[in-house]
Amino acid sequence: MKILVTGGAGYIASHTNLELLNAGYEVVAIDNLSNSCKESIRRVEKITGKEISFYENDIRDKEALINIFNKENIDGVIHFAGLKAVGESCRIPLEYYNNNISGTINLLEVMDRFDVKNLVFSSSATVYGDPKTVPITEDFPLSVTNPYGRTKLMIEDILRDLYSADPEWNIAILRYFNPIGAHESGEIGEDPNGIPNNLLPYIAKVASGILDKINIFGGDYDTHDGTGVRDFIHVVDLSLGHIKAIEKLGDKPGLVTYNLGTGQGHSVMDIINNYEKACNKKLPYVITDRRPGDIAVSFADPSKAYNELGWKAKRGIEEMCRDSYNWQSKNPNGYR
Ligand code: NAD
Ligand code: UFG
Repeated sequence: MKILVTGGAGYIASHTNLELLNAGYEVVAIDNLSNSCKESIRRVEKITGKEISFYENDIRDKEALINIFNKENIDGVIHFAGLKAVGESCRIPLEYYNNNISGTINLLEVMDRFDVKNLVFSSSATVYGDPKTVPITEDFPLSVTNPYGRTKLMIEDILRDLYSADPEWNIAILRYFNPIGAHESGEIGEDPNGIPNNLLPYIAKVASGILDKINIFGGDYDTHDGTGVRDFIHVVDLSLGHIKAIEKLGDKPGLVTYNLGTGQGHSVMDIINNYEKACNKKLPYVITDRRPGDIAVSFADPSKAYNELGWKAKRGIEEMCRDSYNWQSKNPNGYR
C-alpha cells in the first residue's frame, strides 16, 4: 500500500512516516518546507533503511499534485499539511484560510479525479472550544475561537459534506490533543521556527540554555495547582494512531471521527517538574498573566479509538519529557 503524506516533512508527519515504513507501507511525501526541513525525511530514511519518495511542492499547486498522482500509485492520503499557529492565524487570517482551506479543497479534487477516496485528516481538540465538562467525547458540541481553529472545523464540515454527497469516500477525522515528545532515537523531533509558541518546545529551549526562563501563562486556574491542564500525548503514540486509522479505512467505515489523547490531564507545572527530572536541572519560571483564548482544562475520552481502532496511548509524561530533552540535546539547533 502506498500512502501520500501531505506536510510530510513536518513534526507529526515525520514520526508517522517512520511508523508507516516500519509497518510495511510505501510513503510518498509532499511538503513546501514552509515550516520544516527536508532533513527530517533523510533522517527517517536513515532510521528505517527505507526510501521516501519526496516532492517539494505546495498542495495548492494542482499541477504538482496531478503529477504525483500520475507517477505514484496512491492508495490513501494522510493530510497533515497546514499552518498551525493560533496567534499567527489571528494576525494573517487570509493566509490561514488560503493555505488550509484552499489547499485541502485542491487535494480533495485531485483525489476525487484519481478515484483515491481514502483519507486521514489531522484535526484538533481545538474544535471543542471551551468544553463544559471533561473528559471530552467525540459527540461534544463543536465551536472555535480563532481562524486556525475555524479552518479545522471548516475542513471537518467540508469532509462531512463530501461524504454525504459521495459515500464511496472513507474518511478518518483524528482530533489530536497535545502532541509532544520525540522519537526515542533523538533523530527526529519538533523543530519550530523562531521562539516557540507551544509549551514543550519552549521548555526544551530553556533546558538547553537558549531561552532564560519559562513563562507560565496563568497560575489561578481552577486546577490542582492553578496552572492549565492538557492531555499531553507522545508523538509516537499519536503516529501509531494513524496506522490504525489507515488500517480501519480498509474496512470501508465511511466517515469516522476519533479523539487521539491519553485520557489523562497534566498541568503545566506537572510537565515542568517532569522535565526537570529528565534534564536533571532546575528550570527557572515565572507565572505571568493568562494567555488570551486559553482554556483551563482539556483532556480526551479516548475510549472510542480504543474500542474501534484497538489503539491506546502507552507512553507517560516521563517518557514524553525524556524524549523531548533527548532530541533537544542532540539537536540544539533542530535540523539546521
Ligand atoms: P508542522 O508545521 O510540523 O507540519 C505541517 C507541515 O505542512 C510542515 O512541514 C509545512 O511545511 C507543511 N505545509 C504547510 N502548508 C503546506 C502547503 N500548502 N503545501 C505543502 N506543505 C505545507 O506541524 P505538526 O505539528 O506536525 O502538525 C501537523 C498537522 O496536525 C497540522 O495540520 C496541524 O494543524 C495538526 N495539529 C497539530 C497539533 C500540534 O499541537 N502539533 C495539534 C492538533 C492538530
Ligand atoms: N503555556 C505556558 N507557557 C508557554 C506556552 C504554553 O504556560 O510558553 C501553557 C498554556 O497556557 C496551556 C499549556 O501550556 O495551558 C499548553 O499550551 P500549548 O500552547 O502548548 O498548547 P495549547 O493547548 O494551547 O494548544 C495546542 C495546539 C493547538 C491545538 C491544541 C489542541 O497549539 O493548535 O493544542 O490540540 F489546537
